[in-house]
Order: sequence, then C-alpha cells, then structure tokens
Amino acid sequence: MASLGVNIDHIANIRQARRTVEPDPVPFAMLAELGGADGITVHLREDRRHIQDRDVDLLRQTVRTRLNLEMAATEEMVAIALNIAPDMVTLVPERREEVTTEGGLDIAGQLQTLKPMVNRLQQSGIPVSLFVDPELQQLEACRDSGARWVELHTGRYAEADWSSQPRELARLTEGVASSRQLGLRVNAGHGLTYQNVEPIAAIPGMEELNIGHTIVARAVAVGLQQAVREMKTLIQNPRLDPLFGQDPA
Ligand code: PXP
Repeated sequence: MASLGVNIDHIANIRQARRTVEPDPVPFAMLAELGGADGITVHLREDRRHIQDRDVDLLRQTVRTRLNLEMAATEEMVAIALNIAPDMVTLVPERREEVTTEGGLDIAGQLQTLKPMVNRLQQSGIPVSLFVDPELQQLEACRDSGARWVELHTGRYAEADWSSQPRELARLTEGVASSRQLGLRVNAGHGLTYQNVEPIAAIPGMEELNIGHTIVARAVAVGLQQAVREMKTLIQNPRLDPLFGQDPA
C-alpha cells in the first residue's frame, strides 16, 4: 500500500503573501503527522518564495516521520542538504518564472552533472530521488545516475481530460514497472487530488505519493467555518475587561 508524503509548501506560501510569521509550516507539519502523514516534503526554492532556510532547519529538528527535501540540482542546494541531512533529497527542475514545478528533470540530458551530485549525497547517507516523466529513456538514465529512487511526475495524468486519462494512467503503470525492473524504488506526485488519486495509489510497486495543493485546499475548506466562528465570538463576546485600554479618568 502506498504511503503519503504531505507537501506543506502552500502553508509557507500563505505566510509569505504577507511576509509575516503565520501560518508557520513547522507546527503544521506536526498536524499533518497527527493526521497520518508518513513523511513531510518541502521544496526549498532558489528564490525562497515559500519555504525558508529556517523552516528546513526547524523541520529537521521536529519532523518525527521522514523529511523529504525537494530542491534544484545546484551546488548551493547540495551544500544545504549535506548540512541538514534530510531523510531524502528529491531533485527537481526549477525555473523562476514557473508557478510550480513543470515537467520532470531531463536526466538523460544532464547525466554528467547529476551523477557526481547524486553520488555525493548518497555517499553521505542521504537517499536521492529524481523527479522524472515516466519515460523509459529517462528511467534508464536515472539508473545510470546511481540514484536509488525516482518520483514519477503525475502532472500529465492529473491534467488529462477523461478521454486521455486512461492512457496517462497506463504510462505511469508502465513507468512503475520499468523502474522496478531497473532496480529503482518509486514515488509519484504532482497534481494529485481527492478525485484522481485512487488509481495511482493502486499501481503495484508504488511506494509513496507526495501531495500538497489539494490537501491544503481541503484544510481551508474544512477549517474556515470554525475559524470564522472563533473570530465572531471574540468580536461579539470580548474576553477582555471592557475598560481595558481606556483612560480610567
Ligand atoms: N512532487 C513534486 C516533485 C513537486 O514539485 C510537487 C509540487 O511542489 C509535488 C509533488 C506536490 O504537488 P501538488 O502540490 O500538486 O500536490
């Protein structure tokens, strides 16, 4: 049965929209674990648009399941990973203009740069996963890089309309089977929702699904009514002495 890695980048997105201190992704990781998350994933982007270095430091100290650090394949990020020692590094493509990760890494096209990075991380005891499209040539390159894991990109499946979704599901199912034959362990993620996750979770050999956006969206939906109720109670029944803050004279 597949396990669940919860991506909490969007909690940090809300905080960064105001550059304030709330919501803090660190306690939200604990809540996700209480809800049954098998791991916590964060993407430390080069432009630090959501997750900050301090979040990664604190999550390393507080996450009790597994911390998966998503990052670009750059020297800066490798140095941070070696220092933090997450339970897994997932290398992802990154472009500043994109809203979120678009497409998998081209492993085949940059094998010579990636191989030493994968090697350094794994030599220091950090398993490396490569985020790729479910294509045989890419999967073979993943094997050649020395990485032990892949994360298959489910974005095309998630975006497909009803007529092409079965084809995308078949590509992913074949991708998992080919990865296993190549000796790679398999995670998957991107764009998975409450509506489309079940067929992906049922693919034999699938180990973990990394899911973020839909879970945070659902959390807002199930939590908003109570949050409004609490604010209204405070406004209508203040807890403070009515004279508080007023000039006693
Ligand atoms: N896996 C990877 C490699 C990602 O980059 C992302 C998005 O940050 C996810 C999974 C989670 O995607 P979503 O937020 O669409 O569930």
